[in-house]
Amino acid sequence: MPICSSTSSSSFSSSSSSFGSSSNTNIWIVHGIVAGAAIAAVIGAHVYLDRFRKFRSRVVGIIPARFASSRFEGKPLVQILGKPMIQRTWERAKMATTLDHIVVATDDEKIADCCRQFGADVVMTSESCRNGTERCDEALQKLGKKYDIVVNIQGDEPLIEPEIIDGVVKALQAAPDAVFSTAVTSLKPEDADDPNRVKCVVDNNGYAIYFSRGLIPFNKSGKVNPQFPYLLHLGIQSYDTKFLKIYPDLQPTPLQLEEDLEQLKVLENGYKMKVIKVDHEAHGVDTPEDVEKIESLMLERNLS
Ligand SMILES: *[C@@H]1O[C@H](CO)[C@@H](O)[C@H](O)[C@H]1NC(C)=O
Ligand SMILES: *[C@@H]1O[C@H](CO)[C@@H](O)[C@H](O)[C@H]1NC(C)=O
Repeated sequence: MPICSSTSSSSFSSSSSSFGSSSNTNIWIVHGIVAGAAIAAVIGAHVYLDRFRKFRSRVVGIIPARFASSRFEGKPLVQILGKPMIQRTWERAKMATTLDHIVVATDDEKIADCCRQFGADVVMTSESCRNGTERCDEALQKLGKKYDIVVNIQGDEPLIEPEIIDGVVKALQAAPDAVFSTAVTSLKPEDADDPNRVKCVVDNNGYAIYFSRGLIPFNKSGKVNPQFPYLLHLGIQSYDTKFLKIYPDLQPTPLQLEEDLEQLKVLENGYKMKVIKVDHEAHGVDTPEDVEKIESLMLERNLS
């Protein structure tokens, strides 16, 4: 079960006042004050509610999917226990409660056809998109509707929990000073030296300090510390859409280039990124061999 940060919900009671006709002026004054206070309270609640409701409330989930992949051609359409992988991701995303809209962004007609068949909305993006972020950005522009948050849901995590999607959205809604949010989970000791497993360190308030392909923090002994709660970065992120407009224009930064980690550009430019910790076993599908692994795992756990 994922442990997600949850925002507290507030309830408001609006007071109603009744006005009886009275000949006594004093009572009128008292009524006037009561009514004024009640109206002020209602207006106050509205202003507060509006702010509460409107702050980054319009959310779109985008699943970027491309057919050509250096490691795994046609990956989004690979069958996992009889269903295309992209459909599995989409079905999981559908269960998230914070998304107003979910679209698949693709440059490929086969993927688009397949997605329309199972009922997904599709936005065609150009083949020139260099990565998922650019694809999300283009899809967002083509959608034409206004959204405050876009969640980039990687199509190669077919077992993504909807609670994790909701978790990153709520984290960004609750952290006005952050422009970006993402998720981490416990790093398995055997993944400590794997450069494809990206590690993360966060500050006391849950903001990202750094991401690395190397093991961070680095224990003085030079060995992995079995006691330390190392964090593994998961491939889900959400951005403030205003930030997404300037993000592509930010020049590549030294640490980003050195580690080949796009998210470092955000931190190097001084923007804040909120990180939630979740309980999740990553089962990303990167190679054809991963498909068998994930299928046997699903059978084992009775997932279909
Ligand atoms: C390093 O790891 C060991 C356990 O392997 C731990 O006892 C120690 O506190 C850690 N930190 C330093 C600075 O050695
Ligand atoms: C991905 O796209 C972003 C936004 O357009 C760009 O800034 C970044 O350099 C790209 N990263 C890679 C690895 O191409």
